[in-house]
Amino acid sequence: MGISREFGIAVVGCGTVGAATAALLCQQVEAYTKKTGIRMTVRALVDVRFDGARAAGLDENLFQEDLSAVLSNPDIHLIVETVGGLTIARTIIEKALYAKKHVVTANKALLAHHGTELFALARSQGVSIGFEASCAGGIPIVRALVDGLLANDIEAIYGIVNGTSNFILTAMVDEGKTYGEALAMAQAEGLAEADPTLDVNGMDAAHKVTILGSLAFGEQIPLERVPVEGIDSLDLFDVSTGHELGYVLKLVALARSTKTGLELAVQPAFLPQNHPLARVSGPFNAVSVYGKAVGHTMYYGRGAGGSPTASAVVSDVLSIALGTWPALFSTLKLWPDCTEEARLAPTGESRHRHYLRFNLHDEQGAVAAITAALAEKGISLNSFVQKESTNGGPVPVVIITHEATEHDLSQAFEAICALPAVEGEAICLRIIDEHVESI
Ligand code: HSE
Repeated sequence: MGISREFGIAVVGCGTVGAATAALLCQQVEAYTKKTGIRMTVRALVDVRFDGARAAGLDENLFQEDLSAVLSNPDIHLIVETVGGLTIARTIIEKALYAKKHVVTANKALLAHHGTELFALARSQGVSIGFEASCAGGIPIVRALVDGLLANDIEAIYGIVNGTSNFILTAMVDEGKTYGEALAMAQAEGLAEADPTLDVNGMDAAHKVTILGSLAFGEQIPLERVPVEGIDSLDLFDVSTGHELGYVLKLVALARSTKTGLELAVQPAFLPQNHPLARVSGPFNAVSVYGKAVGHTMYYGRGAGGSPTASAVVSDVLSIALGTWPALFSTLKLWPDCTEEARLAPTGESRHRHYLRFNLHDEQGAVAAITAALAEKGISLNSFVQKESTNGGPVPVVIITHEATEHDLSQAFEAICALPAVEGEAICLRIIDEHVESI
């Protein structure tokens, strides 16, 4: 077997993804040598606790707590950062870059917040950052955007990019679980982050759309400008009623080019049951990318978990060892430190259908008042469902509208909520119909 050289790797952070990454590199060392001609050698596993690494059967001789010894070792060429979070992980990556080590990270939060500075630092040090694992776990969506689809002007990205939320919504629809029961199941499956807040409040998906959108459109997307709603306040009633009406509720992350700028959003939205993303269930992720030349392409796979994420991390390691990724990283002009800030579309302009739900007292003229408020804004009803009250109290009224701007819809919604016959919380959810290809 022709081995041209060795490539030394240290994995910093031996939790689920770090241990799975080290295990994959060690188990597949001969196969990778055969494929690449380069021997991938894990030289150190750095952490303060090694329970996960021990459970994965990793060589205890590799365990060490001293990062500085790793950074000064000339036989280590690349640091895998799988610590997570915004503080220690940032310091580790900066130290690795200053030591002129390549970095591979799955840390979407850190890249969404500080990617521009970290990319610039890597460039100034003549090394690269691989981050395929930061978005949609094992799906090679970063590579698709910066390589396979490079010939295209990208028109839109629609993604289901948080496995925890998707698992929860699937359990609510398929098994009738409440939100709380479904979240407990996701945690028991090991899908959710240690603190699932960012999974269910939409921020994890916002991190990912920030990263993917900036690559797709070649423009910087400031995280704080992505409008974000999570699934943490959804009611089983709406998930089930929408399903009966032919829609599936998903947490959708989108970045779409419009005449007035880039539209960005992370929000729970109903998809028609025949929408390409509607069947993406359980912990799976999928990203639809619409290119001007290629039309619709879709990427599907496991978005979370040790082994799928390790697949993306190790593929980055191999690509860096081969020089493929460093060549893209140093020459392409798509990275956020090489681009200008995106021009964003004014809010409220985009047109959609909507699902509305109000709790309505069964009074004469109550429905007429609702339809009048919608008509006032030129919004037409597509369907209307009201069941009989069994106890004389308010009953849920569900409306699917025809297309309207978000601006008009929210004004009509507020007017309806203020009607005396409407009681308690009302719900407005966007319906995302299938994007129309331009080819
Ligand atoms: N917690 C994330 C998810 C996985 O549920 O999709 C890593 O991004």
